[in-house]
Amino acid sequence: MLTQTAAQALLDRIDDELRPALGEGRVASYIPALARVPAQRFGMALCGVEGVLACTGDASTAFSIQSVSKVLGLTLALQALGVELWEHVGREPSGDPFNSLIQLEHEQGLPRNPFINAGAICIADQLVSAYADPKAAFLQLVSGLCGEPISFDEEVAQSEREAGFRNAALANFMKSFGRIRNPVDVVLDVYFHQCALSMTCVQLARAFGYLANEGVQPGSGDRIVTARQARRINSLMLTCGTYDAAGEFAFLIGLPCKSGVGGGIVAIVPRQLSLCVWSPALDAAGNSVAGRHALEMFVTQTGISVF
Ligand code: DON
Repeated sequence: MLTQTAAQALLDRIDDELRPALGEGRVASYIPALARVPAQRFGMALCGVEGVLACTGDASTAFSIQSVSKVLGLTLALQALGVELWEHVGREPSGDPFNSLIQLEHEQGLPRNPFINAGAICIADQLVSAYADPKAAFLQLVSGLCGEPISFDEEVAQSEREAGFRNAALANFMKSFGRIRNPVDVVLDVYFHQCALSMTCVQLARAFGYLANEGVQPGSGDRIVTARQARRINSLMLTCGTYDAAGEFAFLIGLPCKSGVGGGIVAIVPRQLSLCVWSPALDAAGNSVAGRHALEMFVTQTGISVF
C-alpha cells in the first residue's frame, strides 16, 4: 500500500516529468465546449481504499467526463438488472472505433460491449425501462459516490444532441433490430446527459473507489455492486475501456482503465486504489496522450500491476 507521503511524492514527480511535454495530441473539437479547453491542462488524483488522497495540477478543475460515464451507466444497469443485462449487450472488445456502425450490421444490432457508444446507448435504454428518472438516478449514484453534489453541464448535453448524428444512427439502427425498447429521443437524452457529467479528477478518483474495494465504497461503506460484479466491471475496463487501443493500454499499463474524449482516464488497482488523470489533448483513438503517459509512469515507478 502507498502511504500518503509516498503517493503525493509520486504524483508530484509525474507532474514535474510530464509537464514539459503537455499538448501533444488534439483536443476533441466536435462540440465547442470541449474544443475551447486548453490543451495544456493536466491533473491527477489518487484515492487509496484506506483513505490516502493525493493530487496534483488541475485535479480540482471540473471537466466533461464523457465516456468515463459508461462505467457508471453499467453500474446502474447491473444494480437494476443483474446478470439479465448480458442478454442485451456483449462482453468482447470491438477493435473498431467507439462510434462505429459496422459490427452492428453483422451482429444483428447486439453491441459488442458496454463501453462502445452502441453498448452505452443500449444500456441507457435499459435504464429508461428500469428507473422512473434515469438522469436523476445517475446524479444520485455519482453524488453518493463522491459525497457531494454532481451535476450535468447542460451546454455540453445540448451540444451532444446537436452533433449526435452518429449516435442517433446507432440508436435507430439498434431499434430496427428490436434491441431498443423505448423511444430513441428519450434514450439518447439519457446518453447525452451522462456524457455531460462534469467532474474533477479528485471527484472521479473518489467515485470509482468501489471498483478498487470489491464493490464497497470506501469511506461510506455502502455496497454499490457485488464483489463479482466489481471484478467483471474491472475486467471489461481492461479489455474494452480505452476504445480500440485497449490492447495497447493493457500492454503498456496493465490496469483496468476507462477513458473519455474530454481527456479523462480512470484507472483501478484492485484492493488498493483508484486513480484519475485528465489532460484534454487526445491521440487518434480518443485517449488522452498525457493521461496515458502519466499512467505508464505510475505503473513503471511503483511496479504496481494486476499481473
Ligand atoms: O458519444 C459521443 O460520440 C461523445 N459523447 C463521445 C463519448 C466518448 O468519450 C467516446 N466514447 N466512447
